[in-house]
Amino acid sequence: MALPTLDVNNALSSSVGQGGLSPDALEKVAPRVASAHAAIFGARAAGKLPYLDLPTDRAAADAAKALAKELSGYGSLLVLGIGGSSLGAKALFTSLCHPFHNLLPVERRGGRPQVFFPDNSDGSTFSGLLEVVDLQRAAVAAITKSGGTAETWAQLLLLRERLGAEAARRQVVAITDPERGALRAVAREEGWRTLPVPPGVGGRFSVLTAVGLLPAAVAGVDVDALLSGAAEMVARCDTPDLAKNPAAMLASVLHLLDVERGRRIHVFMPYADALRETADWFVQLWAESLGKQESVGPTPVRAVGATDQHSLLQLLMEGPQDKATVFLAVEKPRAELSIPRDTPAQPDVKYLGGHTFHGLLSAEQRATAAALAKGGRPSLTITLPTLDAHGMGALLMLLELATSFAGQLYGVDPYDQPGVEAGKRYTCGLLGRPGYEPSRDELAKMPAGDPRWVVR
Ligand code: PA5
Repeated sequence: MALPTLDVNNALSSSVGQGGLSPDALEKVAPRVASAHAAIFGARAAGKLPYLDLPTDRAAADAAKALAKELSGYGSLLVLGIGGSSLGAKALFTSLCHPFHNLLPVERRGGRPQVFFPDNSDGSTFSGLLEVVDLQRAAVAAITKSGGTAETWAQLLLLRERLGAEAARRQVVAITDPERGALRAVAREEGWRTLPVPPGVGGRFSVLTAVGLLPAAVAGVDVDALLSGAAEMVARCDTPDLAKNPAAMLASVLHLLDVERGRRIHVFMPYADALRETADWFVQLWAESLGKQESVGPTPVRAVGATDQHSLLQLLMEGPQDKATVFLAVEKPRAELSIPRDTPAQPDVKYLGGHTFHGLLSAEQRATAAALAKGGRPSLTITLPTLDAHGMGALLMLLELATSFAGQLYGVDPYDQPGVEAGKRYTCGLLGRPGYEPSRDELAKMPAGDPRWVVR
């Protein structure tokens, strides 16, 4: 089956003039790409980069599928998790399921549960959700790799109380580290079913573990096709040859546009509503992996075509020359609609007659890339043959691997997130978690704000 392709023509000076990269720049980076490849795939061979082996982890896929089958009788699945413990599953759900899955009558969903991702610990959303789902008929996937994330626990504690111990034993599945952390300990004590997140797979690289696979399988995604697409992309990117390695090429072009052309803002712009959450997932992946050492870190921005042509595009076209856009196009849509040929005679409307909705969207994507190029503004285009599980597996793996290559090129560790941890420590200090007194005291010593600078 065909894999996504990457076209970087519009990032080169031959298309965009000075704002683009010269072929020399790519030739110069090739030896660094070869070293990056050796480091990444060497780490994989040494068992130090387990996310690259997830596509062939049959046991994990089978366990997720088996549990999904057991949960299939529930009316809904509530996926509790945040950041890497939510965004990947959400991306799979929105890209591969019916756009209105939760509104379909149950038989049109193949009897499958509705799937909700409350994500943020915003009480208004969560209480609203509890008004619309029947908790007695809801399964709960509590996902936290560390086992101790406050937002996820806030929701879980509430559901644990509302369900009661016996129902929770039937209805809660904990997805967490196999040994460590509070969720693992509580799941053991309270008899909840569990699936493991392999140690060594970071949150934002965990979409192909139970974290993404269980919710996806519950929603009816073909998990095997997803993994086979990802496995094919790993194989494709296992080469030091820049010209044959889409992950290395994506990372190199974005890196060079940043450090050599001052294009520090990377706009990720799918032309498909179904890929909106995939863009959110990518934003987290790129930001949390590469934003390090005070000086490194392209800023990722999500846009959606054609919606953002009526919002961000003016800025992209005529604002500061500090952006590179990654378009994500889909060749063959899942559903096709034609615009009727029978139109009013008005020329401003008549030209649309007989085109398809997809034709309109594709023309808009190509036209936007061309207009940006004419204005000296670089872009890259990833094209998915079609929006299916195989293609999504390949796409997600392409973006994860590009992040690994970018980490090597920028010289940062893309797998840690010390800045996020600092914020978590202060939160725990503020909320009185034992062991976090030093963080609470540190906060207390910070100067109080001057009331003169509070505008009332
Ligand atoms: O990528 C990451 O590591 C983070 O975004 C985490 O996924 C996020 O902070 C949630 O952490 P946890 O899964 O431990 O609850």
